[in-house]
Amino acid sequence: MNLDVKKDCVGVEWKTVSETLKRVGMAFHEPELHRKAFEASHAKVFIYHAGQLIGFGRALSDDAYQAAVYDCAIVPEFQGKGIGKILMNNLLSQLSHCNVILYAAPGKEGFYQAHGFRKLKTGMALFQKSDLMKKHGITE
Ligand SMILES: CC(C)(COP(=O)(O)OP(=O)(O)OC[C@H]1O[C@@H](n2cnc3c(N)ncnc32)[C@H](O)[C@@H]1OP(=O)(O)O)[C@@H](O)C(=O)NCCC(=O)NCCS
Repeated sequence: MNLDVKKDCVGVEWKTVSETLKRVGMAFHEPELHRKAFEASHAKVFIYHAGQLIGFGRALSDDAYQAAVYDCAIVPEFQGKGIGKILMNNLLSQLSHCNVILYAAPGKEGFYQAHGFRKLKTGMALFQKSDLMKKHGITE
């Protein structure tokens, strides 16, 4: 597969980002809000196949010692082909000097464990939509 990996937001169709997150069952927003989030992020990765955006992810970071990964998704037709691994490797290579945290979607823990992530024993989060996060199995 001929993949193009980009680490900036130039030319990104934010509608596709929003629609992809919706398709894979993740939280999604208006395209403009995703543009704001990705552009404000320290690290971002966009993966294209034949000019089509097929995967993306981003990380917040102080670029000193802490980082947090968000919005990692591969479009359904391209899942299970090793593209998620390429995505994470490209994201983590930009964060190699940092501790990195994330919250996995239920059932996706193994994907992150393969990249060295371990479950937190005392991880806590203050979510805007706390009832929804409980319903989705993210919090207790
Ligand atoms: C999770 C996701 C990013 C993985 O991307 P992908 O391209 O399907 O994964 P890959 O094909 O690169 O798989 C890489 C490795 O992770 C493993 N893996 C993938 N999904 C897994 C899962 N849910 N549980 C355990 N292992 C998993 C694969 O078996 C593969 O292992 P290998 O290297 O030993 O063969 C993708 O499936 C996705 O976008 N899912 C929907 C959105 C989502 O849940 N995102 C994560 C939010 S936290």
